[in-house]
Amino acid sequence: MGTSLFSLVIAATFFSSSIVLTVSGPLYVDSITTLNFTASNYQYIDNSGAFLASNNQIFKATITNPLTQLTNFYFSVIHAPSGTIVWSANRNKPISNSGKVRLTEESLSVIDDSGVIVWSTTQFRSNIASLKLSDDGNLVLLDGSNSSLWQSFENPTDTIILGQRLPVGSSLVSSVSNIDFSEGEYVFSVTSNDGLLRWNGLTYWKLSMEINASIDSYSPVSFLQINGTGLFLFGFNESVIVIHLAITPFNFSIAQLGSEGALTLKRFVGSNWVQDFAWPSSYCQIPFVCDKIGLCSARVCSCPLGFHKSTAGGCVPANSLLSLPSCNASDNGNQLNNSSISYLNLGNNVDYFSNAFMQPAKRGVNLSLCQELCTQNCSCLGLFHGNSSGNCYLLENYLGSVMSSSSGTDRLGYVKVLVKFSNENPNGTQSQNQSFPLVGLILIPPSAFLLLLTIVFLGIFWWRKHKLSRTGSAKLGGGDYSSGELELISFSGLPVRFEYEELAAATENFKTQIGFGGFGVVYKGTLPDKSLVAVKKINSIGVQGKKEFCTEIAIIGKIHHINLVRLKGFCAQGRQRFLVYEYMNKGSLDRSLFENGPVLEWQERFDIALGTARGLAYLHSGCEQKIIHCDVKPENILLHDNLQVKISDFGLSKLLSPEQSCLFTNLRGTRGYLAPEWLTSTAISDKTDVYSYGMVLLEIVRGRKNCSMPVQSHGLENDSTEGDDPSSSTSGLETRPVYFPLLALEMHEEGRYLELADPRLEGRVTSEKVEKLVRVALCCVHEEPAIRPTMSNVVGMLEGSVTVGQPRVESLNFLRFYGRRFTEASRHEGFGEANGNEFFSQRNSATFNSTAVDSHNSFSYMSSQQVSGPR
Ligand SMILES: *[C@@H]1O[C@H](CO)[C@@H](O)[C@H](O)[C@H]1NC(C)=O
Ligand SMILES: *[C@@H]1O[C@H](CO)[C@@H](O)[C@H](O)[C@H]1NC(C)=O
Ligand SMILES: *[C@@H]1O[C@H](CO)[C@@H](O)[C@H](O)[C@H]1NC(C)=O
Ligand SMILES: *[C@@H]1O[C@H](CO)[C@@H](O)[C@H](O)[C@H]1NC(C)=O
Ligand SMILES: *[C@@H]1O[C@H](CO)[C@@H](O)[C@H](O)[C@H]1NC(C)=O
Ligand SMILES: *[C@@H]1O[C@H](CO)[C@@H](O)[C@H](O)[C@H]1NC(C)=O
Ligand SMILES: *[C@@H]1O[C@H](CO)[C@@H](O)[C@H](O)[C@H]1NC(C)=O
Ligand SMILES: *[C@@H]1O[C@H](CO)[C@@H](O)[C@H](O)[C@H]1NC(C)=O
Ligand SMILES: *[C@@H]1O[C@H](CO)[C@@H](O)[C@H](O)[C@H]1NC(C)=O
Ligand SMILES: *[C@@H]1O[C@H](CO)[C@@H](O)[C@H](O)[C@H]1NC(C)=O
Repeated sequence: MGTSLFSLVIAATFFSSSIVLTVSGPLYVDSITTLNFTASNYQYIDNSGAFLASNNQIFKATITNPLTQLTNFYFSVIHAPSGTIVWSANRNKPISNSGKVRLTEESLSVIDDSGVIVWSTTQFRSNIASLKLSDDGNLVLLDGSNSSLWQSFENPTDTIILGQRLPVGSSLVSSVSNIDFSEGEYVFSVTSNDGLLRWNGLTYWKLSMEINASIDSYSPVSFLQINGTGLFLFGFNESVIVIHLAITPFNFSIAQLGSEGALTLKRFVGSNWVQDFAWPSSYCQIPFVCDKIGLCSARVCSCPLGFHKSTAGGCVPANSLLSLPSCNASDNGNQLNNSSISYLNLGNNVDYFSNAFMQPAKRGVNLSLCQELCTQNCSCLGLFHGNSSGNCYLLENYLGSVMSSSSGTDRLGYVKVLVKFSNENPNGTQSQNQSFPLVGLILIPPSAFLLLLTIVFLGIFWWRKHKLSRTGSAKLGGGDYSSGELELISFSGLPVRFEYEELAAATENFKTQIGFGGFGVVYKGTLPDKSLVAVKKINSIGVQGKKEFCTEIAIIGKIHHINLVRLKGFCAQGRQRFLVYEYMNKGSLDRSLFENGPVLEWQERFDIALGTARGLAYLHSGCEQKIIHCDVKPENILLHDNLQVKISDFGLSKLLSPEQSCLFTNLRGTRGYLAPEWLTSTAISDKTDVYSYGMVLLEIVRGRKNCSMPVQSHGLENDSTEGDDPSSSTSGLETRPVYFPLLALEMHEEGRYLELADPRLEGRVTSEKVEKLVRVALCCVHEEPAIRPTMSNVVGMLEGSVTVGQPRVESLNFLRFYGRRFTEASRHEGFGEANGNEFFSQRNSATFNSTAVDSHNSFSYMSSQQVSGPR
């Protein structure tokens, strides 16, 4: 009995371990010669799905899931040191982690769970003998005599790598997103005389027109190649160069067409990518950067005058009687009647990405002829007309974003619109009036209008009543919110509303906590569509009713900007309040900046500073309603892949306080980033955010908290001994408590900028670059709000379009006061006891609350612990 049980256990152990043995496969090196070979991600899970490595181990063939999401797996070649996917087979048809790659004598193929072949090579004249991954990253099928049957280099996706040729007539096609590799709308192609970026067939960039490109001959192009010293368009063979662009030589570079439509050229240095070029160099030149008819200006999206944001994305005419036509059978009847077509002006100095690359449909015509041309053409959706030249450009089939033209243009743009209720000839074309009622209403006789209005109102009334009687307040826990609930249906543009149960399921009952913000705990979750989200549970909702909550949500939900975290939805059930945001996989800036991870390179810091500035500029001036963040700090600056920057927690200040703005009584900011006016009676304005931004900028420069305690670590001192490089002299400064903003002011006065840079950069930055950020930061923290720059100015200064301001020392003297207080306080409290920050904040948070009003100013320098307010 005992022995048989024992042997059963042995058998079971053996059985399970033998399963394990068969499951994890060996990593092949150089080539696979075993035919009838199969691999799945699951089988190679120990190697993250990699089953074949190049001899030099730099490239790997793998079945991978970008960003470790769970649904989309791709058979890919990756550049192992950076994890960059340089080629993938089944980009339009992802498989699951048990889908397979199969190598037989006939083909290399990718097979999904149900055995369907989703990708395969075509038939070859001889049999396959091996699959080889060469040292340059080319995946090759070889026959028995080692001649190539098929190569990944000849079937590029969105990337070409050093040495790879992109022949004339072939293209790179962008991916839809970082996790969905299916083909997007942007294409880079090599033509017989140039390299072009296109969107829906329309050119938006040409290599030959780049400033740094030189045209060496007019021979026809044969292929494009990056070879370590440059990007070349070669003619018949390597001895004929048609166009070339020199790059800093390095071992590995790639050219990649990103999902956002920009072609980048990057070098891999150390363990990081360094971007040499991103084209088009003017961001607003990207066709769909602000969605349909979105107006791109200095990287900020808004809508042209007379248009507003549509919930479906992009901009639509603000007048609800006007709609954008679509040219297809169902709508043609609508459009046939000429009289219902009109044109809305896009405003002055607005241009279109393709105008510079396109021939006009007609030259020397007046505007009405140009409009006539467009009217006759069902697929024409808009036009640009040059006033002096009479050039008429028609926008056919697709409408992209429009851009504000800084240099000014003589062209005026018009969007074709359909006027509903077209009883009469439209006589209000090109109106820019924004208020309601608008153009359309002028077009119909007053009596008809009144009748119409009555009908519309009656209709709405009936619909609401009907809807209410059906829904009632059945969904509500207590009856107390029913009036708020009923109002919900009249809010437009509300983000998705979730049930509590849906969020509980998405977060597996609030299992994984990923953060603790000012408003409560944040959990990671996965929605049924597999998208990752951050679910923020709002703790102290106070006396807020559901209606006010929803009003705010509707406002926040409408704000879309590349540098702002997107609100995907919310939940308001009973007293529960949740906000559902897109998930940012790299966490917040404080972690990247202050913790002991890889050091952020200067360019990365600069990009983060710029992204943050853009996001704030948008909040302050880009949306319909000015939004003051009130709590700008590294914890609220989130990072995504490629260090994409997004600001979180904006617009929430109103959720907590009944007041209409962030008021002193409900102190919302975070010490260390609080502008002096928080503590005086000066009004809070967008300049309050500018101050906090300046403080954050200084921390980005330094890589440490502004009021950090001296470094106790010996690592720094030991590493950089007594050499006379700048980093060792700065670490000398760290032996006393440093109020960094004051140090920045002092060093600015002496012009010793380099000493302010993060010592961990070990000199990998120039004095000019540090000076730029430090001067911008000091201008931002002027005590007098009026002389701080606006966030749009800051964006301009960082981008170089606005001269960097000269800090006004008389408005920065308060830093000396703060600095002195800081030094005294740290002496008395016995600095040097491990983590000064925590020590500080615990000691002072109580004091702060009770004495904030009278002992003003003295606490604005405090460390960045959150003020315990109504959170
Ligand atoms: C691979 O499978 C095919 C069909 O199943 C078989 O004919 C062939 O002999 C196999 N080749 C090897 C090398 O096992
Ligand atoms: C093909 O290449 C492999 C590895 O380089 C080598 O071992 C083999 O002998 C070659 N075969 C022929 C026919 O050249
Ligand atoms: C052109 O090259 C110069 C120097 O190599 C560089 O500073 C500049 O940024 C380049 N311009 C563009 C548009 O890439
Ligand atoms: C790249 O190609 C150009 C033109 O053929 C040549 O002058 C240059 O030396 C090449 N660079 C490398 C690193 O091979
Ligand atoms: C390039 O083509 C020319 C003319 O056909 C020939 O003379 C030259 O040898 C070729 N060069 C290379 C590197 O193939
Ligand atoms: C570049 O390649 C050379 C030789 O292949 C190697 O010695 C050097 O370490 C490489 N540099 C980097 C930064 O990878
Ligand atoms: C026709 O236009 C409508 C509205 O834009 C669109 O939903 C539909 O897909 C279009 N149909 C075709 C065949 O393009
Ligand atoms: C076209 O407009 C005329 C008046 O101009 C109107 O009588 C007619 O009903 C309209 N037709 C359609 C299909 O809307
Ligand atoms: C539309 O306009 C064209 C030319 O302007 C005219 O020939 C045609 O009859 C008009 N169609 C209708 C339905 O009014
Ligand atoms: C359009 O309005 C103008 C005055 O604004 C008037 O002169 C013209 O006759 C009107 N046209 C039509 C077709 O009603």
